[in-house]
Amino acid sequence: PAHRPLYGKHILITAGPTHEPIDPVRYIANRSSGKQGYAIAAAAAALGARVTLVSGPVNLPTPPGVDRIDVETAVEMGNAVKDALPADVGVMVAAVADWRTQNTAQEKIKKRGSAPPVLMLTENPDILATVSAHPKRPKLLIGFAAETENVLDNARDKRKRKGVDWIIANDVSGPSGESVMGGSSNTVHIVTEKGIEDLPEMPKEEVGRAIVERIALALGT
Ligand code: C5P
Repeated sequence: PAHRPLYGKHILITAGPTHEPIDPVRYIANRSSGKQGYAIAAAAAALGARVTLVSGPVNLPTPPGVDRIDVETAVEMGNAVKDALPADVGVMVAAVADWRTQNTAQEKIKKRGSAPPVLMLTENPDILATVSAHPKRPKLLIGFAAETENVLDNARDKRKRKGVDWIIANDVSGPSGESVMGGSSNTVHIVTEKGIEDLPEMPKEEVGRAIVERIALALGT
């Protein structure tokens, strides 16, 4: 029906930060709140999609009608995403940590002597690039790009480099951008093969609805 244009479609969304453990009580993380990814999940479910939301640690309620899978680390998120395929659409919104510690200490690291501990890092898998190269790649694959400079140039490069259909760019620099991560509004630019659509600053819920409407259009539903 017209009011549930995504009925029968499976939309796979990642959201939130990842936590990379240092020891049993400490971790590396970032300022992502998960709000934008959750808003997209809510909007997709409202239009009738079956939604799988693979979520890092956040303080948000699960939107109605959404299947939520909680993970902590990037490696766990990558595995949960692969397990959730196939999907018609993938929207990778999570702010995945680029690095994790090479070894997680089994006991709390003690403050002793004078030298602070040295953290050895190793790169995390790029979940978006992995999904793009996957045999079950969603037909429409969408990445996000949080940039602080050359927002649109970087987004165009990223679209090609990661092999995705759309990149949704947001500027997280400067006084207003500081409020994007964790804040409740967002200004996004949708970068596709055809060009760039600039959306005005809006609450993240509205940004979510705008993106999901364009997904429905692109699927021809
Ligand atoms: O390269 P960058 O981290 O800026 O790319 C951002 C996009 O890639 C986002 O869609 C993010 O969810 C995704 N990503 C990912 N796995 C990573 C790093 C980023 O899925 N390890």
